[in-house]
Amino acid sequence: MKSYWNEEENYISLESLKEDIETEVCIIGAGLSGLSTAYYLSKNGVKVTILEKDKILSHTSSHTTAKVTSQHGLIYKYLIDSKGEEFAKAYYDANEEAIRNIKEIIEKENIACDFKSQKAYIYTEDADEVQKIKDEVEACKRINIDCEFVTNVDLPINIQGAIEFKNQGMFNPKKYGIELCRVILSNKGQIYEESKVIDIKKENENFLVSTDRHIVTAKYLVIASHYPILNTPGYYFLKMYQSTSYAVLMDTKTEKLFEGIYINTKDPFYSFRTVETGDKKMLLVVGSDHKTGSDTNLSDSYEKLEKQAKRMYQNAETKYSWHTEDCITLDKIPYIGAFSKFMKNAYVLTGYNKWGITSSNIGAKIISDMILDIPNEYEEIFKATRVEPIKNIKEVENMIKQTGESLIIDKFKLPEEKLADIKCGEGKIIEIEGKKIGVYRDADNNTHKVIPVCSHLGCELKWNNLAKTWDCPCHGSRFKYTGESIETPSIEGLEVIE
Ligand code: FES
Repeated sequence: MKSYWNEEENYISLESLKEDIETEVCIIGAGLSGLSTAYYLSKNGVKVTILEKDKILSHTSSHTTAKVTSQHGLIYKYLIDSKGEEFAKAYYDANEEAIRNIKEIIEKENIACDFKSQKAYIYTEDADEVQKIKDEVEACKRINIDCEFVTNVDLPINIQGAIEFKNQGMFNPKKYGIELCRVILSNKGQIYEESKVIDIKKENENFLVSTDRHIVTAKYLVIASHYPILNTPGYYFLKMYQSTSYAVLMDTKTEKLFEGIYINTKDPFYSFRTVETGDKKMLLVVGSDHKTGSDTNLSDSYEKLEKQAKRMYQNAETKYSWHTEDCITLDKIPYIGAFSKFMKNAYVLTGYNKWGITSSNIGAKIISDMILDIPNEYEEIFKATRVEPIKNIKEVENMIKQTGESLIIDKFKLPEEKLADIKCGEGKIIEIEGKKIGVYRDADNNTHKVIPVCSHLGCELKWNNLAKTWDCPCHGSRFKYTGESIETPSIEGLEVIE
């Protein structure tokens, strides 16, 4: 289960933080959000320091579909209906600007990252969905988006209709991100790997950002850690959850593949693009999404994607498979800007709703402009401290229901299974001496026991039978079966029972 993007050989290995240091801007997280922010700031002579808990680009940024597009699902009709035409147009312009910015960086820094211009499509095979696409085309045209309704696409399936955006793109996110690192380092920026932030304090005008051994003192703080690791005063855990999706990269055993990047209109979502792997062009399929920690059997998540690929290419064979987590906001708009009205000089980038390539670039530009005191016309639409009522009622209801259940009801349900019932390769919550214990039995018949209560805010964890992890249904933290935290917002691991 390794992402193809992580095959990239041109890797930079960096040291962990070995001393207390002072800097102007401390950025938490070395994914594309943190790196792009550091890129813009270091280009402007600002002293930046990035602290990354693992390796650079090792999480969402190297597990993405890497479509470079302003076509974020059927979003423009939704935005016009919920926020108005001016807002929808600004959202589109911001993401189109991000595409131009990324192309400009690639050209200026001479980055070989396989960028390819593509048309982007949202399609349907279902006649009942065609009107939705026509409505989206009409909404897009109202705000002058260059798009059209088409009934033929290069993807080898029979569609009923699609919306086409021109001049979009795709690239290799790891190659792009690694070159951003090189530019940051050459501009005297500092990047530390394996330097997990465990505490943040404000002292007078400065932030004291602590890893397990050292402290970075900084005037500005940028939280680009995927899901913010600070609970208060931002309260992002009340307005965001995580969704898991799966990816397979397949050799189709055919000479010719399609042009364009694609996604369908409704759940279950399937997203398609091609990837040049040197000697071959392969098919990347992403989908099988579910709310992280939801109680489903995940063991056929990859098979569902393979089935979609084989409808088009019967002999397709999986070469790589991986999964990823994305932060989902309740109003479908990222949170970018000041972290909280009560914490001056702290900024956040999160909640990209699975469209992180353009969102991370425009987010980085907004945050760097805020720190450099340069006006940015898109600051207002992504404002992270917004408090307007949320019109996406379905998502709000889902989140409240599941969070409520995980926090309260499950705690009082007594599990019926016993230790002996757990087979090799299985994980379950059982009762031992009146206590709920999460147990995984490995292939060698060893049992690994943890208290299945999330170290973030105390929700009961669910076993993920595909990744062999304990996943939190509330905000999407994930833990190895041995208890270590692997996905934010949790920082600490689980209590391990010997
Ligand atoms: Fe928030 Fe688990 S991620 S309680």
